[in-house]
Amino acid sequence: MDKMKLRRKLMEQRACLSPERRRANAVGIRETLLDQPWVQMAGLVACYWSIGSEPETHGLVFALWKHGATVMLPVHKSDDDLDWAVYDGPDTLAPGRSGIMEPVDARRGVEAIRTAALVIVPALAVDARTGVRLGRGGGSYDRALARVGPNVPTVALLHDGELIDGVPAEPHDQAVRYAATPVGLTRLMR
Ligand SMILES: Nc1ncnc2c1ncn2[C@@H]1O[C@H](COP(=O)(O)OP(=O)(O)O)[C@@H](O)[C@H]1O
Ligand SMILES: [Mg+2]
Repeated sequence: MDKMKLRRKLMEQRACLSPERRRANAVGIRETLLDQPWVQMAGLVACYWSIGSEPETHGLVFALWKHGATVMLPVHKSDDDLDWAVYDGPDTLAPGRSGIMEPVDARRGVEAIRTAALVIVPALAVDARTGVRLGRGGGSYDRALARVGPNVPTVALLHDGELIDGVPAEPHDQAVRYAATPVGLTRLMR
């Protein structure tokens, strides 16, 4: 299946999730992540502010921040690359270029993701065998993940049924090292 077709299928699947199911998924993913010592110990975390039917991260971002981590969120640039700025509580966000909430804090530059100890990204699907990630089609996280060192845990958040076989991969597509779903965390191999 090509990327466009697969994206459409996955978006349709997400549109069918009830609000209750979405809330339960967010709690499951948050608890799974917060149970990991390497998540608890990460001092600087790159995460995302979820929109629409994406696995919800607002509670996760708040919890990480409350537990003392510095949390950076993406600032979507006009060229689809991602700049980063620090979240400092729910009142420090404002709608960005694409309508997604972004921190009002100073931008730290596209290279700031290199300094994160943990990187949490959105995905429509992840390949269960290779870890290759399918995004919404902007390629933003391919650029961002290409800057992340080999020993940093990178985690894509997924709903059930989105860790699949046969995600189409082009040379620029980046893999993640973990997938977090409502049922648990999976370590992925490239
Ligand atoms: N490292 C990169 N530098 C510049 N452009 C990139 C890079 N990676 C991806 N892109 C651009 O992003 C576009 C969309 O990438 P794609 O992998 O299809 O989207 P997504 O990863 O969001 O599913 C690509 O066609 C390419 O033009
Ligand atoms: Mg890609």
